[in-house]
Amino acid sequence: MILIKLGGSVITDKTQYRIFNRERVRRLCAEIRDSGADSVIVHGAGSFGHVIAKEYSLQKGSVDPAQVPAVARVQYDVRELNLMVIDELLNAGIPAVSVPPGSCFMMDNGNLLLDDPEVLLSASRLGIMPVMFGDVVFDRSKGFGICSGDQIMEVLCELYHPDKVVFVSDVDGLFEKDPKTNPDSKLLTEVTSELLNCISSDSSVADVTGGVRAKMEAMLRMTSSERDCVLINGSVEGRLCSLLKGERVISTTAKGGL
Ligand code: IPE
Repeated sequence: MILIKLGGSVITDKTQYRIFNRERVRRLCAEIRDSGADSVIVHGAGSFGHVIAKEYSLQKGSVDPAQVPAVARVQYDVRELNLMVIDELLNAGIPAVSVPPGSCFMMDNGNLLLDDPEVLLSASRLGIMPVMFGDVVFDRSKGFGICSGDQIMEVLCELYHPDKVVFVSDVDGLFEKDPKTNPDSKLLTEVTSELLNCISSDSSVADVTGGVRAKMEAMLRMTSSERDCVLINGSVEGRLCSLLKGERVISTTAKGGL
């Protein structure tokens, strides 16, 4: 099984509130179908989550009553995004159901608690893909918090033991420096924790879940001797399909644990 995260930067325009990239999602769903890979998808929140979450500092937990309407708004927005993704999966012929972390699970001090995975496992057993996503989740210690798609990937990794983990982004992989501001920057085909310490991680867009560094750290935690964790560019047509079919593509592979 292959666990795939469609990043918010690939499925939305992360710089503009609530802009869904439908054409790209449609193509990526078709690529997943055409690859024939047995997969489970998680997706990020992109501009449906980060913009308001940042404005109201939702990642700090409950610190101000003014955050309350923002919690409800973000949950609504990311559900709408999720249903648009699900719609594209269904249109591609992939039976998928929405499993909103914010109403199915709790967090405790920022850690997602998946004490009872029965819903997820029941869907998978029936050949139905449960689709989770970055969300605002109630938290036993902090009232609420942001649960990123990357955190969900880690928890699902423990649950499903996938053969491969794939993060689909809008860059070719990890670069020494941000390729959007440094066009000559070199792509790193392999990343270890030692290498990660030498990399700059500036980010110019709203992101409450740590940007590139947090992603690479999460990726490294998901690696094992049998499992690679790969970051690829989903805005290049055909790349995800090729990777899922086991072909070599331009990408960054995390290795060796954190
Ligand atoms: C963030 O999820 C969730 C919210 C801000 C509500 P992610 O961190 O997984 O989203 P992307 O992939 O960075 O957009």
